[in-house]
Parts: sequence; C-alpha cells; structure tokens
Amino acid sequence: MSLNLTSSARRRLEQAARRAAGTAYAPYSRFRVGAAVLTGSGKIFAGCNVENASYGLCNCAERTALFTAVAAGERKIRAVAVYTPTPDPKMPCGACRQVIHEFGPKAVVISICKGGKRTELPLAQLLPAAFGPKDLK
Ligand code: THU
Repeated sequence: MSLNLTSSARRRLEQAARRAAGTAYAPYSRFRVGAAVLTGSGKIFAGCNVENASYGLCNCAERTALFTAVAAGERKIRAVAVYTPTPDPKMPCGACRQVIHEFGPKAVVISICKGGKRTELPLAQLLPAAFGPKDLK
C-alpha cells in the first residue's frame, strides 16, 4: 500500500487529480471532482466527473480515470487519488470502490482537497469482504 508509493509518484498522482478537476463537467451538482490512478506499469491516468441531463448516467471522476487506464491496456491499479475543491477530503462512492477493487484490491486511496487536509487508506479498509474476480473462479 502507501509504503510502496514513492513520494515522487504520490506527488505526480495528486497533481494529476487536482488538474483533472478543472475539466469536470458538473453543471447539475456543481461538485467538481478530479481523480488519477497510478498503474502497475507506473503510468498515471486522470479523469473527471462527467454529468448528464439524465442524472442517473453521471460518471464519477474515479471511474473516468480508471476506465481510461483500462482502455489504454492497463490492468493493475496501485493507487487512486481523488481531489475535491472542498474544505475536507471526500472518499470515493461505493460504486467506485467496487470498480477500483476489480483492478486494485490492494490499492491505496488518497483523498486530497482544497482545504489541505488529506486521508490515505487502503481500499481493503474502504471495501471490506469485497466481491471480486476470484469469486467467479
Ligand atoms: N462524484 C465523483 O466524481 N466521485 C465520487 O466519489 C463521489 C461523487 C461526482 C458524481 C457527481 O457528478 C457529483 O460528484 C455529485 O455527486
């Protein structure tokens, strides 16, 4: 988990998440979120939330970043950073936790915010006793 993450990787990941919030499409909630994932090959992919007039189709920033990484051929997620321009850090929603688990059951989830506070927790703590690929074997 976090112990394996170099300070340089963490810095680049957090910067990518912060930058991605700038392209959030959130005209309905006005809640802009940026996320970035660090893959097994060491690459970083970023994403933002993308809302829709049909509200149920809104896509979270975490899933945008993760799906972008998978579409580029990546299959392992080591860390996820989430940025919100809020006083306190925000955690990924339940759906995103499940999607992160598919590719990064041992990933660390870093939440950062405008206020400067931060959290860093293993996904396994955010989604205990998860259902995953191994359950279909
Ligand atoms: N949102 C995210 O992008 N990530 C989360 O973990 C929680 C929620 C987005 C979805 C929606 O566009 C807006 O924030 C309000 O829920």
